[in-house]
Order: sequence, then structure tokens, then C-alpha cells
Amino acid sequence: MRKALVAGNWKMNGSSDSNKHLLEGIIKESASFSSVDVALFPPSVYLQQVQEALVSTELAWGTQNLSQFEKGAYTGEISAPMLNDFGCSYVLIGHSERRCLYAEIGLDQLILDYIIAEKYAVAIQAGITPIICIGESPEEHEQGKTEEVIARLVDIVIAQNGVQALSQAVLAYEPVWAIGTGKSATPEWAQEVHSFMRERIYKHDPETAESIQILYGGSVKGDNAAPLFSMPDIDGGLIGGASLDADEFVKICQAAVSY
Ligand code: PGA
Repeated sequence: MRKALVAGNWKMNGSSDSNKHLLEGIIKESASFSSVDVALFPPSVYLQQVQEALVSTELAWGTQNLSQFEKGAYTGEISAPMLNDFGCSYVLIGHSERRCLYAEIGLDQLILDYIIAEKYAVAIQAGITPIICIGESPEEHEQGKTEEVIARLVDIVIAQNGVQALSQAVLAYEPVWAIGTGKSATPEWAQEVHSFMRERIYKHDPETAESIQILYGGSVKGDNAAPLFSMPDIDGGLIGGASLDADEFVKICQAAVSY
């Protein structure tokens, strides 16, 4: 039986004051979702604040990205050793908002998948669990390319690092058309894609396929979380907008309790 994981991606939101309020609201209710793994992803400048607030709780934290390099002249980047310094257990890798920014400077999606596989390896080596985000764009969705897009990244990650390394990772299916649009995928659609992802891994290693947590992300709210999480291959969610509201986020974590 896989444990559910709910991850709150704050993106570029928050302030010292609003974070304090949000953290207090989540911690206060955390006993009601103690059987669920919960992790928060603040902007990196607030890592210390989040670490201090969560260190004596069961809640985990991480960053929204990491560099594939260990150190050096990479302005604006953060490395795996820095994440270790702040006690991060998780890191988000390959979020579509990062992909879009990179694509603007002309990187091919295939090259990007290789970079994501490199970042994934760096995180694993540092003992940090990578949450690898995968999802099709609205155009790819319309063209029926969902499985192609997902298979490409899963295959590259497995080819570069071996399937066993996936047992230390989390996957997140995040259809780009559902992110921040209020238009979540239906539980049936998401289940179908999650099952495809698990099958793809199953061919290489049934045990890893059975144990890996696969999250759904894209307009998950308090009132649509339960039907999504009740699907057999959906093991929790990666939450953007709704993770900024303590009541809403708590509701989502509670929906994962009985999943
Ligand atoms: P959303 O974002 O919940 O605001 O749609 C999800 C994500 O980007 O991870």
C-alpha cells in the first residue's frame, strides 16, 4: 500500500508575514492528516523560515528547482549541497513553468528532458527525493500526444539512471492545460495517464512500479481532491494555488487520508 503525498508548491508567492500565517494554519491542523506525507515548497529565500517552523513537526519541505551542477558560476541557481544545508527532503524537478522559461531561450524539449534526468541524479545522490513533473501542453493534448510526451521523459530518466533509482523518486503528472486554469483533469483521465506511467515502469521493474508515488497536479482544490485521490493509481497531489490558503490546503491533505 502506497502512502499518499500532498506537496504544496508556493511558486513565487509569499512574504515573511503571510508565510507565518500560512504555516501556523497548516501546523495547527496537521494531526488530522498525520497518515499523509506532506511537503511544502516555498521560494528558496524563505527556506530558513519554513525549516524553523516545520523542523519539530512531521511536515517536510523542499525547493522548487535545483541546479544539475554542484557549485560555480551559475548565477541565480541553487545546488543540492545547499538544499542539504537547509534540511530539504524533496525537490521539484522539471515543473512546466521552469520548462517554459527554458524553452524561451531555445532549448528543445528533448534536451530539457536530459537536463531533468541529470538534476534527478544529482538529487538522488544528495539523498533528496526528486518530484519529477511531467505533462503535456494544450497543443500536445489536442494532438493526442500525452502518452508520447510522458513516455519520452520516463524512458530517458530510466535509461540515464536505471529503473531502481526511481524507487527513491516521486512522479507528478501535471497536464499544462490544467495548471492554474481552474480546469482540473477528470479523475478518469488522470487515472488513465497514471496507469500508463506505472505500466511503463512495470516493464522494467514491477516492484518499483508498485511502490512509486505518482501525484496528480493541476487545479486541485479542496472540493475536487477526494475523487482524484480515490483513483487507484493517484497517490496524492502537487498543489499550486490552493496551497497558499491554509484552510484549502488542509482540506486537500485531509482528502488524502482515506485515499
Ligand atoms: P495549480 O498548480 O494547483 O495552481 O493548478 C499546480 C502546479 O503548478 O503544480
